[in-house]
Amino acid sequence: MTLQIRSLEQYHEAYRKSVEDPEGFWAEQASTFVWRKKWDSVLKNDFVTPDVQWFIGGKLNITENCLDRHIETRGDQIAIIWESNEAHEPSVKLTYRELLAEVNKCANALKAQGIGKGDRVCFYMPMIPQVAIAMLACARIGAIHSVVFAGFSANALAERIKDAQCKMVICSDYNRRGPKTIPVKSVVDEAISMGCDSVEKVLVYKSTGGKVKWDPNIDIWWHETVDNMGAECQAEVMDAEDMLFILYTSGSTGKPKGVVHTCGGYMVYTCYTFRNVFQYQDGDIYWCTADVGWITGHSYIIYGPLLAGATTMMFEGVPGHPDAGRFWHVCEKHRVNQFYTAPTAIRALMAAGWHAPEGYDLSSLKVIGSVGEPINEEAWHWYDEKVGHKRAPIVDTWWQTETGGIMITPLPHITDTKPCFASYPLPGVQPVLLDPNGVELEGNSVEGLLCIKYPWPSMLRTTYGDHERCRTNYFAAFHNMYFTGDGAKRDEDGRYRIIGRVDDVINVSGHRIGTAEVEDAINQHSGVVESAVVGYPHDIKGQGIYAYVKAHSEVVDEDHFRKEILDVVTKEIGPIAKPDKIQFVLQLPKTRSGKIMRRILRKIAEGQTDQLGDTSTLLNPECVEELKAGALE
Ligand code: WT7
Repeated sequence: MTLQIRSLEQYHEAYRKSVEDPEGFWAEQASTFVWRKKWDSVLKNDFVTPDVQWFIGGKLNITENCLDRHIETRGDQIAIIWESNEAHEPSVKLTYRELLAEVNKCANALKAQGIGKGDRVCFYMPMIPQVAIAMLACARIGAIHSVVFAGFSANALAERIKDAQCKMVICSDYNRRGPKTIPVKSVVDEAISMGCDSVEKVLVYKSTGGKVKWDPNIDIWWHETVDNMGAECQAEVMDAEDMLFILYTSGSTGKPKGVVHTCGGYMVYTCYTFRNVFQYQDGDIYWCTADVGWITGHSYIIYGPLLAGATTMMFEGVPGHPDAGRFWHVCEKHRVNQFYTAPTAIRALMAAGWHAPEGYDLSSLKVIGSVGEPINEEAWHWYDEKVGHKRAPIVDTWWQTETGGIMITPLPHITDTKPCFASYPLPGVQPVLLDPNGVELEGNSVEGLLCIKYPWPSMLRTTYGDHERCRTNYFAAFHNMYFTGDGAKRDEDGRYRIIGRVDDVINVSGHRIGTAEVEDAINQHSGVVESAVVGYPHDIKGQGIYAYVKAHSEVVDEDHFRKEILDVVTKEIGPIAKPDKIQFVLQLPKTRSGKIMRRILRKIAEGQTDQLGDTSTLLNPECVEELKAGALE
């Protein structure tokens, strides 16, 4: 089993080794897995093209490491506990043996439908065990999963299906989220009708039993195919650098891009980080509340925990249903040992009642985690006191879709914690802070642009179908560096504090949204000339979305126009991208080269109108007064 650091001394030792001899360090980790053929060389290190490869020539199947290798030692141990949206419904438990059988049946069903190695399969699914089963089934046969968060609109889904040319879509009939039931299958139907010609079949899991429209030429019921298949399926032998999955994420420009992760390095890194960051011990119950539509769900609900032979919980619902005690109730019910959630959920639950968690027995918790956005000081202390009881340390984990796994984090019970600090790099991670000219800021007590200067096994390899985009986005800003898009501070003791994005990406409730995408959506409204979108601090969501909209003609009924804009954004992207505030303007502030000066718009949205700085370089400085006067509280 992958090495687990248990003391501060071991952390320093592992870190030192990982920097002095990265290849030796990662080869040692990799050797704890089952390989069909060992790698010929450990690393190709090219951060410029970029062309990074790990465990070159190695052959494996990640599902043999998630499932088969555990059967002998823990076949009857629970692999997945599923907790329903409805508090009164019983939990579902699957042992490793049962999970392997289900994965194999699903893999056989996919093969029977003509899905094979290298084919892309799109997922649009609720948080039910079948999403894990089907993702692993893809990995079993070498098909590439592309999971799309089921809160995205039909348009957004169609765009992603087309970009990856998916041959199949796997969905459910409906999706229960809190008090709502969302018609998933009909969104898929709509997406497919938008010219997704690559899709041959839609595999539908009956989750609620609600009525759906059915096309017998395309649609297949899960229970009519998967359930009839044999429970044995040979795992496809994959190259370490074969694609495992694509996951779309937003950037500062253009459409979302498909981040590509490969089999070998992702496997080694997610298992290593899961074992260490959560200090998982045999018998523990681990719960990450993320959705599988995001990287956190991929790496720390499914792959990392299963690789480590853990018991991982999946939760179908939302934090506030039926009430704000649901998380704590579930922790108590299952005696959860490691709990991993997002600051936005922490803030929402904190707002629901400062003392609320006191009514529950949270004594089983040993580690509590935070991910997705900076956690503010008040939320950190509440989490520490009311949930962790100052006994279970907070791991504030910094990472990204592109990094595949956790990069900077405290190690619980090993390194210290400090409010709002992601703290220390994990072994194998070499962060640096740069000034805007690319000069490395050495020493402590500095603030700059966060880059990583050496490859790590689970880093993205490319952006699907567009390698140049990967290069320009991440590797072109600074020579021989991976640029994260985040700004960070290093304190007097070398701990990192992530400040947030320095590009045009905003983080709304831990969801990453490109301002350009929201602008494109708003501009679809025929009454809109142009728009500019910025983030502003929001008590619960972390950041809210503030849109400045210039209309073709005078806006008579602002409320009505706002509603129409929200509808367009919901249709183009999904409800998560709806602006919180829309200010109608006569002009947007432009530089002489015609670029929108966002700095000014950000300051106004933040309510810092006295800090606009130099506005004299604007082409239209007179617009500033109007913008200030119309600013929304
Ligand atoms: C961006 C990546 C990593 C899984 C979920 C988000 C922000 C992430 C933290 C943290 C401060 C954080 C960064 C990063 N972020 N974790 N612990 N503290 N900021 O993945 O959607 O790819 O977003 O989330 O800005 O760049 P993602």
